[in-house]
Amino acid sequence: MFQLLLLALSFLESPVFMASVSVSGSKPVGIVGGHRTPPGRWPWQVSLRTYDYKASSWEHICGGSIISPQWILTAAHCIQSQDADPALFRVQVGEVYLYKEQDLLNISRIILHPDFNQFSKRFDVALMQLTASLVTSTHVSQVSLPNNNSTFNSTDQCWLAGWGNVHKNVALQPPYQLYEVKIPIQDNESCKRAYRKKIPDEPQSVAIFEDMLCAGTLGRGPCFGDSGGPLVCLKSNKWVQVGVVSFGVDCSLNDLPSIFSRVQSSLAWIQQHI
Ligand SMILES: *[C@@H]1O[C@H](CO)[C@@H](O)[C@H](O)[C@H]1NC(C)=O
Ligand SMILES: *[C@@H]1O[C@H](CO)[C@@H](O)[C@H](O)[C@H]1NC(C)=O
Ligand SMILES: *[C@@H]1O[C@H](CO)[C@@H](O)[C@H](O)[C@H]1NC(C)=O
Ligand SMILES: *[C@@H]1O[C@H](CO)[C@@H](O)[C@H](O)[C@H]1NC(C)=O
Ligand SMILES: *[C@@H]1O[C@H](CO)[C@@H](O)[C@H](O)[C@H]1NC(C)=O
Repeated sequence: MFQLLLLALSFLESPVFMASVSVSGSKPVGIVGGHRTPPGRWPWQVSLRTYDYKASSWEHICGGSIISPQWILTAAHCIQSQDADPALFRVQVGEVYLYKEQDLLNISRIILHPDFNQFSKRFDVALMQLTASLVTSTHVSQVSLPNNNSTFNSTDQCWLAGWGNVHKNVALQPPYQLYEVKIPIQDNESCKRAYRKKIPDEPQSVAIFEDMLCAGTLGRGPCFGDSGGPLVCLKSNKWVQVGVVSFGVDCSLNDLPSIFSRVQSSLAWIQQHI
C-alpha cells in the first residue's frame, strides 16, 4: 500500500502535467500544502536541469542550494552516478519562475558523498561546482550551514521551497512559480517508530539512520521534483540549511514525515571540498 518514492524519479522518467491547481487557504495545495513564493525570499534556491530531447529543453529535475559562490548542494540521487558527466547538467539561479528566458549556468565538477547508498539512501548529498563564481545580489546569495553543535527540533521555524509537484499526481503549472511551506522537524525516535509501524516488513531502504532528519506532517511536505532542495531553519536571525530533500512516502498524503539528509552529518565532507 505504501510505496517508497524517490522524490526526483518521476520527473526523470516522465514529466507529467495534469490538472491545474487551485490555490486556497486551507486545502492541501503547494509544494504540498504550501503557497507561492515572492522573488528574493529564498535567494539560495536553485533548479537543477538535464536536457530532455523530446521537449528540446533543459527540464527541471531537482532543487538545490547555493552554499558558496561556486558550490551547489543537492541530493546524490538527483545525480545518480558517481561518475556523472557535469556537462549533462545546468543550474538556474536567482529566479522564482522556471523556464524564463535566461542563461543557465554550467557545472565543472560533481562530487557525490562517498558514503551515498542508493538503496538505504544514506548520505544522499552531492556537491556541484559552477564553472564561474556567482555574483551576489538580492536574488542570488548563499545559505549558511549549521554549526556542528546546533540542535534543531519542532520548536524551530523551518521552511522548505521547491518546484516539485503540488500534489501526488499534480505537477506545478505554468508559470512554474516556486512554492514554499513551513514544516516542523520531527523527533528522531518517533519518526523511526512511525516508519517501522507503517511499513513493517519493507526492505532496509525505509530504516531511518542518524544521518537523516525527519520533517513535515500530514499534507505538508516535499513531492516529486523537490528532491535536493534545502530545508532551512531560522537560528539567531539567520537562515541555516539543516536538510536536503531525500525521500518520502506518497507526498505527505499520510502522516509519515519526509526524510532529509542531515546537513550536520556531512559538514566535514562539505568543508573539505568547498
Ligand atoms: C555552457 O556550456 C555550453 C557548452 O559547452 C556553452 O555553449 C555555453 O556557452 C556555456 N554557458 C555558459 C553560461 O557558460
Ligand atoms: C558551537 O560552535 C561554534 C563554532 O562552530 C562556537 O562559536 C560556539 O561557541 C559553539 N557552541 C557551543 C554551545 O559549544
Ligand atoms: C528544542 O531545542 C531548544 C534549544 O534549541 C530547547 O531549548 C528546547 O527544549 C527543545 N525543545 C524540545 C521540544 O525538544
Ligand atoms: C536527532 O538525532 C541527531 C543525530 O543523532 C541529533 O543530533 C539530533 O539532536 C536529534 N534531534 C531530534 C529532534 O530528535
Ligand atoms: C564536528 O564534531 C565532530 C565530533 O562531535 C567532529 O568529529 C567533527 O570533525 C566536527 N566537525 C567540524 C566541521 O567541526
